[in-house]
Amino acid sequence: MPNSKLIDSYGRVADDLRISVTDRCNFRCIYCMPAEGLKWLAREDILRFEEIVRLARIFVERYGVRTIRITGGEPLVRVKLEELIGMINAIDPTLDITMTTNGVLLRQKAPALKDAGLKRINISLDTLRMDTFKDMARSDAFDRVMDGITAAREAGLWPIKLNMVVMKGHNDDEVVDFARLARSEGYEVRFIEFMPLDGDNIWTNGQVVPSRRIQEQIEDLFPLEPVVDTRPGPATRFRFVDGAPGGVGFISSVSQAFCTTCNRVRLTAEGGLRTCLFSLHETPLRDLMRSGVSDDHLGGVIEAAIWRKEEGHLINQPGFIKPAKSMSQIGG
Ligand code: 5AD
Ligand code: SF4
Repeated sequence: MPNSKLIDSYGRVADDLRISVTDRCNFRCIYCMPAEGLKWLAREDILRFEEIVRLARIFVERYGVRTIRITGGEPLVRVKLEELIGMINAIDPTLDITMTTNGVLLRQKAPALKDAGLKRINISLDTLRMDTFKDMARSDAFDRVMDGITAAREAGLWPIKLNMVVMKGHNDDEVVDFARLARSEGYEVRFIEFMPLDGDNIWTNGQVVPSRRIQEQIEDLFPLEPVVDTRPGPATRFRFVDGAPGGVGFISSVSQAFCTTCNRVRLTAEGGLRTCLFSLHETPLRDLMRSGVSDDHLGGVIEAAIWRKEEGHLINQPGFIKPAKSMSQIGG
């Protein structure tokens, strides 16, 4: 049994841990990374599997964390990632272990991930057009991603969520096609508002397509009804009124922030604890661990960091400061 919960000064409980396992990626999505990439972390600066598992165990056993999401960069570029999944699963096989991936390596990796204990998967897919894929991911791997999605499904990683970051002038004309895809294949498509976490500093409010607009376009053709979630999440979820399979969700980080119910905490690849995507500071845990401190000591540092979790982000308000890190360096 957990000895306590991770509570912040606004009364929110952190029970969803996102672990970034690498800052590297084989894509260069325009909303995330510059075309030339970023300066990668050195190998010794990245947490080893044993270090990640030690922290995961503290979060799970002491503080009752139930959901662990593996992120990157692109998590599957980390060698033998399935071993890490197996190690985390061994802490507690009932844990909800999920992963967000760009899908390009799933044909090779999906069966091993499933066997190791991965429960669910989110695959980033911003477009169904090869040319738009080249424009947005700056990669030629569109066919491999589509095949990776099929491979995940064949391996029994189900349900599959597809993450689409909607950007005006790039892929916003495809939202209805994605709703059709959800219906025909049974996927849950999550439409994500473009957030100011890109490596190129191209974000402007004008490129954000508010979820409300997307929902209206979809409902013109396919009426939706809300899904009542037992646990509040960032996505407002809907199913199709006519009973078609699949569903849609909207992550309205910009137009309708969900900070008041945020239950997330993030660990960066270099072992920094971040209480918000938009945090301007993080709590470094790696060197503390390497200096030989006890779990009690680490727990105290974690509790204190969570207590200071910020009230919310200030996107679109005068006080907003864009974090120095991009999404790939934080972990989605
Ligand atoms: N805004 C919104 N979503 C983003 N992602 C990456 N960068 C951004 C951004 N600037 C999403 C990716 C992926 C997840 C890890 O984060 O699409 O699905
Ligand atoms: Fe890579 Fe994901 Fe960033 Fe795209 S969004 S560049 S796939 S880390």
